[in-house]
Amino acid sequence: MNQAERYTRLADFVRDRLERMAQSYPNANHDPVYRWEHTLRVAQYGQQIALAEGADVEQVVVGCLLHDVAHFDPLESYKDHGRAGARLSRPLLVDLGYSPAQVKSICYAIAVHVDGKSEFEHPHTLEADIVSDADNVDRFGAYRILQWCLPEMGDFSALARKLRQRVTQLEGYLANNPLETATGRALFAQQLQRQVTFFKDLIAEYDLSRPPVR
Ligand SMILES: [Fe+2]
Ligand SMILES: [Fe+2]
Repeated sequence: MNQAERYTRLADFVRDRLERMAQSYPNANHDPVYRWEHTLRVAQYGQQIALAEGADVEQVVVGCLLHDVAHFDPLESYKDHGRAGARLSRPLLVDLGYSPAQVKSICYAIAVHVDGKSEFEHPHTLEADIVSDADNVDRFGAYRILQWCLPEMGDFSALARKLRQRVTQLEGYLANNPLETATGRALFAQQLQRQVTFFKDLIAEYDLSRPPVR
């Protein structure tokens, strides 16, 4: 089986799982289309970061494709979806012909992407850092600007109030960039800067909503 075939099998597995779990456990936060498209973008960012950082590109891409496979599974805590995803992924990775060491390393990256904890011993890896960096880069993308604004679209005053708080939070992340790799940090800073600039422009525009004084 070549790499393209492995990626297709993995993609089918993840998309199918997300769709089935979203149907079985309907919930306002269970949007399988968004989760799947997020997964693809995380794989794209992961590949970009892995190439720049000299990591194992296939391990990173596979980890990214699988990282949220258990996102809609019924779990005690949302924070368990990394470890649950690793458990779900293991048989497929074996079936796809990855070596025991590769399977363990990919499962480790999936397991720790939420809260840094795995159910098994494994040395920390650059590939795990990259999967989590790629995830965070997408969580602060341009699309998220829309998600922040849409709920208050009918109420500019409420939106400006919410965004003032958000800008403070984003500037905190910019001052203390929490990502693990240099490439991840650079991409994350670009995402944050775009959000801060746009939100500040919106707030400044709201602040013009009063009579001029001389
Ligand atoms: Fe996740
Ligand atoms: Fe994610």
